[in-house]
Amino acid sequence: MSRFETKVLHAGIEPDPVAGAVMTPIYQTSTYAQKSPGEHQGYEYSRTDNPTRTVLQTQLAALESADRALVFSSGLASIDAVLNLLKVGDHIVAGDDLYGGTFRLFNRVAKNRGLEFTFVDMRDHAAVRESMRPNTKLVWVETPTNPGMVLVDIAAIASIAHEGSALLAVDNTFMSPYNQRPLELGADIVMHSMTKWLNGHSDVVMGALMIKEPGFPLGDRYVGENGLGDRLKFLQNSIGAVPGPHDCFLVLRGIKTLAVRMQRHNENGLKIAKWLQSHPRVESVRHPGLTTDPGHELAKRQMHGFGGMITFFLKSDLAGARRFLESLELFTLAESLGGVESLVDHPAIMTHASVPLETRLKIGLTDNLVRLSVGIEHAEDLMADLDRAINCI
Ligand SMILES: Cc1ncc(COP(=O)(O)O)c(C=O)c1O
Repeated sequence: MSRFETKVLHAGIEPDPVAGAVMTPIYQTSTYAQKSPGEHQGYEYSRTDNPTRTVLQTQLAALESADRALVFSSGLASIDAVLNLLKVGDHIVAGDDLYGGTFRLFNRVAKNRGLEFTFVDMRDHAAVRESMRPNTKLVWVETPTNPGMVLVDIAAIASIAHEGSALLAVDNTFMSPYNQRPLELGADIVMHSMTKWLNGHSDVVMGALMIKEPGFPLGDRYVGENGLGDRLKFLQNSIGAVPGPHDCFLVLRGIKTLAVRMQRHNENGLKIAKWLQSHPRVESVRHPGLTTDPGHELAKRQMHGFGGMITFFLKSDLAGARRFLESLELFTLAESLGGVESLVDHPAIMTHASVPLETRLKIGLTDNLVRLSVGIEHAEDLMADLDRAINCI
């Protein structure tokens, strides 16, 4: 079963053995009966394992070409599990343009636990190489970045990370496995906020890690006796940030339409990006599908579609941007992205407020920057909404 459109419906999905239920049942239980102490059917306690969660994890591994997938109660909880692979004094090289919550977790939580970070522009491979130290154990990449829409060459960064025996983790949230599969390009860990495209309906908060067992030597403290997947599974159970079975069911349901949703998101994203580019009141547009985008050639190489995320700069100040955002009707002004309905975000005030002003200015996150998550509505209706709101500035 090789094609993605088929995998979203069938990979890991079997009729339930108890009653033949075609849809994966919601095993709403915290615990499982044992015949005799230690004699059970593979499930002991739902923090450790739950059958609905197992189906979701099996399917996610197939979608990302992974050896294993593990789900967590949020995207950030899944990033934290990766950080928990590390020890005091370990060093992480991370992109300098990251989701605000990731930045906050790294700078205000992980640093207090004795982890060291260097933030670097991941497009500058010489700078990445120079940032690597003997104690660098992890390289963390987001591509495209949120909200800069900057593309990072996953294969090139994987070679740099592996020269130094560090793991490469890629936050693939913006693309979904339909559009990009970093493990196929040399990454060791893929992370998703499944709150976004994978679930696709803005009604669940959940995260996932998909992993390939490292094909290069690492200290045994990272991979344990049985490998990276087993160590992360140990952390998932030991820390306990797991999603409930009903949320797992909702994500399984969302994934069934991932391929058709992403096709429409990709189509609408490109149409709207091109339209914005020709709008007289728009300064510039960032979308990897635009032939003028600096990341376009790389996007064609490492992605299978360009996605529904657009970042653009209005020809206005903050007051004008506010008027535009308040005037939209179809685009809902809200944090998050990746739902079937279109959303708009003002990163400087909303999603990225936790990024210090100095860093925001360094990466060009200005007050006239607007981020769109383009939904599956009719593109003409979305453009009419944007046009009307832009003319309110
Ligand atoms: C790129 C990216 N990574 C990680 C996260 C964090 O995920 P969650 O909100 O599910 O914890 C987000 C959330 O917006 C995100 O956009």
